[in-house]
Amino acid sequence: MGYVKLFAAILVVLAVGAEGRYRIGLGRYDVTGPSVEIAFMGYGSMTQRGIGIHTRQYARAFIIEDETANRVVFVNADISAFSDAMRREIIRLLRLRFGDLYTTANVMFAPTHTHAGPGGYHQLVLYDITCLGFIEETFNPIVFGVREAITRAHNAMQDGRAFYSEVPIEDFGINRSPAAYYANPEHERRQYEEDIDRNLQQIKFVNARNETVGAFHWVATHAVSMNNTNYLISIDNLGYASYLLEQEYNPGNLVGTGTFVGAFSTSNSGDISPNILGPRCYRNGGECDTVTSQCPADDVCKGEGPGETDKENTKIIGSNIYKAASIGLKNAPQRELTGSVGFMHQFVEMSRQTGQWFNNATGRYETFRGCLPAMGTSFAAGTTDGPGAYSFFEQGDTSGNPFWQLVGNSLRPPNRDDRECHAPKPILLMTGRMSWPYLWQPLIVPTQLFKIGGAVILGVPSEMTTMAGRRLRRTIQDLGRELGEELVVLPTGMANTYSSYVVTFEEYQVQRYEGGSATYGPHTLTIYQQQYARLFSALQAKQSLPPGPTPRDESRDQLTFLTPVVMDTGRFGRVLVEPRTIYSRRQVVFVTFVAANPRNDLRTESSYFFVDQLQPNGQFRTIATDANWETKFIWRRTSTLLGQSEIDFYWTIPDNAESGTYRIRHFGASRGILGIRPYDGSSRTFVIN
Ligand SMILES: *[C@@H]1O[C@H](CO)[C@@H](O)[C@H](O)[C@H]1NC(C)=O
Ligand SMILES: *[C@@H]1O[C@H](CO)[C@@H](O)[C@H](O)[C@H]1NC(C)=O
Ligand SMILES: *[C@@H]1O[C@H](CO)[C@@H](O)[C@H](O)[C@H]1NC(C)=O
Repeated sequence: MGYVKLFAAILVVLAVGAEGRYRIGLGRYDVTGPSVEIAFMGYGSMTQRGIGIHTRQYARAFIIEDETANRVVFVNADISAFSDAMRREIIRLLRLRFGDLYTTANVMFAPTHTHAGPGGYHQLVLYDITCLGFIEETFNPIVFGVREAITRAHNAMQDGRAFYSEVPIEDFGINRSPAAYYANPEHERRQYEEDIDRNLQQIKFVNARNETVGAFHWVATHAVSMNNTNYLISIDNLGYASYLLEQEYNPGNLVGTGTFVGAFSTSNSGDISPNILGPRCYRNGGECDTVTSQCPADDVCKGEGPGETDKENTKIIGSNIYKAASIGLKNAPQRELTGSVGFMHQFVEMSRQTGQWFNNATGRYETFRGCLPAMGTSFAAGTTDGPGAYSFFEQGDTSGNPFWQLVGNSLRPPNRDDRECHAPKPILLMTGRMSWPYLWQPLIVPTQLFKIGGAVILGVPSEMTTMAGRRLRRTIQDLGRELGEELVVLPTGMANTYSSYVVTFEEYQVQRYEGGSATYGPHTLTIYQQQYARLFSALQAKQSLPPGPTPRDESRDQLTFLTPVVMDTGRFGRVLVEPRTIYSRRQVVFVTFVAANPRNDLRTESSYFFVDQLQPNGQFRTIATDANWETKFIWRRTSTLLGQSEIDFYWTIPDNAESGTYRIRHFGASRGILGIRPYDGSSRTFVIN
């Protein structure tokens, strides 16, 4: 009897396995940080501080489990980069809620890499310095939001299937460092049609009723359509692609709501710019030098287009990415993902990695090694997407940044061995030898691999150039073929933590920005190729790997020079500028309220503003929030001494707005001696005819 049951159970498992049935869950949650007074993470500019919100930031997660209860979680978020600190805290919170279900090994975190969100969450000096140190205020909403996105996915688990497709994207990026790309061997370049990876990689999830419940995507472009003069929180091009896809599949829902979840992560985008008209000298319009990206006189070289403004660029590039995703969801999928789910994770100390590589120039196998972290001089020059970022390192400029004044003395010169290891990189910052007041760049990085049937997701803790990503893909595909399996490989950039760039050995010799930012030296990629092959082989052989050294928890030593909100005064919520009485479509509704500092309450999963439409039953219904593309708000202190402020709200009436009566409401919270108190206000009504 027992045997019969067991036999029946095995038959069921086999049948389910063959059909590719998984348990699948998807979830989304608001992670919008403090929108004002905090420097954005990305361009390394101290003066690019928030003044409001254009679009809200979200975390999106999928969970997939096979019939033997192997489960992986993939998280995407509209932020610049994840950090060890965030990841450690998220896993700790998940453990409190779910026990041992979600761990460092089976949860992968991937950012869109938008450069238009508040920073200060790394607990690493190099990546927090322009934000004036560690900012718990930006750290917390991301950590809690990601936990909630995973929780929603967890609670939504249902039977489903997963499909993989590739779709070419029209106009979305150009190679911004061709001088480095064309240093790669000709025979290698000839295997590819372009110096960019044009295909969107898509994993689509359907439920047992064959309804599409979500889709995650990998795109090789940078979310830097918004430039370094933007002061509003923005999800940039990849986030806007999510926005459009979710609007299409959640019709009638407010932004950030609805069960369909669509996410876009960045893949091998390290040398890809969405500014597709290419670099020009900003002031005089001439050509930039192709190797140095320098312009004559004091002009700067800046990538441009395709639109007139950076907001328009975001819209065009985001729409193009969305279109490819939407086509992918409607076409017959190219392949169903069937088979087991697996994961592998290992921390590695990069400067301790060695191995053998074939040097085609000498025709011999040679020993390689990783280096202690260091950044080259071209790092300070920035890219054509954000020129001159971090230039204060180069100039040793101590003015203006109190954090820099404090840590400037901890700079350490590289020794001879460091210089040899990193050659030909001229070392600007020997971050690997700097540990005061805490770590400057990661010494230990997480490496992670997921396998979902025939798809392998590589969680790479760096920004990979196009060719670096291709080599990693090929390494895993070759291993798969040896085992008789044709794999699709999805390299995920900046997964789990941020450690700047990885380029090919040949690209490294050119020392463009990406090569100058290849933290662990000329063989960073060789190390990764060896490491991801190790993870893959161990997974296939069902072996476990030692976890590797744990990155140090730096949270006790954190410093911050950001001043808290002291006090707000004023008749909060009172309208200073009312809307006009009548508008037509495409006009802009403008309202000004007496406000308090938005940092007092992030209005998570809600909004600072609601556009309400009067319904036939006499009730108002919200049709847009501060997450909508058509809305934005700008906050300003009118008196720092008295803590007074105002907030302007703009709503560009869309073409599809219904005729009728509307109002704008504003919600916030003020800080006073009795703590934080909510307030609200409403404009008078106006008509759209
Ligand atoms: C779902 O689609 C598959 C083919 O992809 C088909 O075999 C199956 O019958 C469909 N199921 C439902 C419930 O429509
Ligand atoms: C950044 O974008 C703004 C708005 O589109 C534009 O006016 C400005 O010229 C851009 N700056 C650079 C350096 O491209
Ligand atoms: C070495 O270079 C030659 C010619 O450039 C090429 O044909 C060959 O495939 C290369 N070998 C490897 C292992 O890259």
